[in-house]
Amino acid sequence: MKKDFLTLSDWSREELEQIFELTRELKEKQKRGEEHQLLKGKTLGMLFEKSSTRTRVSFEVGMFQLGGHALFLHSATTQLGRGEPIKDTGRVMSRYVDGIMIRTFSQQGIEELARCSDIPVINGLTDLYHPCQIMADLVTVIEHKGNYRDLSYCWIGDGNNMANSWINAAAIFGFELRIATPKGYEPDAAVMARAAKLGAKILYTNDPMEAARGAMVLNTDVWASMGQEAEQKERELAFTGFQINRDIVALADPGCIVMHCLPAHRDEEITNEVIEGPHSVIFDEAENRLHVQKAIMATLMG
Ligand code: CP
Ligand code: NVA
Repeated sequence: MKKDFLTLSDWSREELEQIFELTRELKEKQKRGEEHQLLKGKTLGMLFEKSSTRTRVSFEVGMFQLGGHALFLHSATTQLGRGEPIKDTGRVMSRYVDGIMIRTFSQQGIEELARCSDIPVINGLTDLYHPCQIMADLVTVIEHKGNYRDLSYCWIGDGNNMANSWINAAAIFGFELRIATPKGYEPDAAVMARAAKLGAKILYTNDPMEAARGAMVLNTDVWASMGQEAEQKERELAFTGFQINRDIVALADPGCIVMHCLPAHRDEEITNEVIEGPHSVIFDEAENRLHVQKAIMATLMG
């Protein structure tokens, strides 16, 4: 039976650890220039209803390196943007390509797409989740800290798609996560409730300093996500103080690493100084999107 990558929660810890292992192998092969064409002759359809730099380029290049081909399809120039139902899109795409990566608004929409497609569907970001990014982030943690376990993770900022996926990761992998958001900008209530039921070790606070104290991994994201541009001004007021800066880094573990999925608004949610500073692993994190997504595609489509 085909498997999709719509949310981390559909996967077990063991299965995700296998993806980390395959990522390491594929990355080493790519760096050494060794053949690793696990998807020779296969095609990925990439559906975008939102902008992207990293996701588009890393999936397209990843598919090429695996010996396959990727098609960039934007809603503005496909019939999806003119109202063709997602279920018809999925049925038709299933006749042409071997997998779909989609970036869109609604998580229900990609679940529907997955239900009516005979081929694997990968979530390249929705309003609710960004699972490929969290996989790349954890690969980056493993590379820099030797392991992802027994570390304390801190999220400062918006309770958005990234925060929701971090909550899922904490529930699956069992690490400690502290999330600081302004009041009214908490993560998704159902996501929090499910993680609590699974016994996840997560602290929710409105105090960024409480979240950062002693943490090994500091993470943030923009205050206004794609689709929330009209709220930018009001969010700037609400999020004042929810910034990763030198004071926050000084409260964390001296060996801490700082992450950001990018694109960043420098000197809003994170200072330019911290992005360019010695704790930042942000560009390794961006690179690892390529390697981890190759492993995800090889697992689903190989
Ligand atoms: N981090 C991330 O998904 O970047 P893009 O929006 O550029 O794809
Ligand atoms: N939370 C951001 C992530 C971008 C990669 C957004 O959804 O716009």
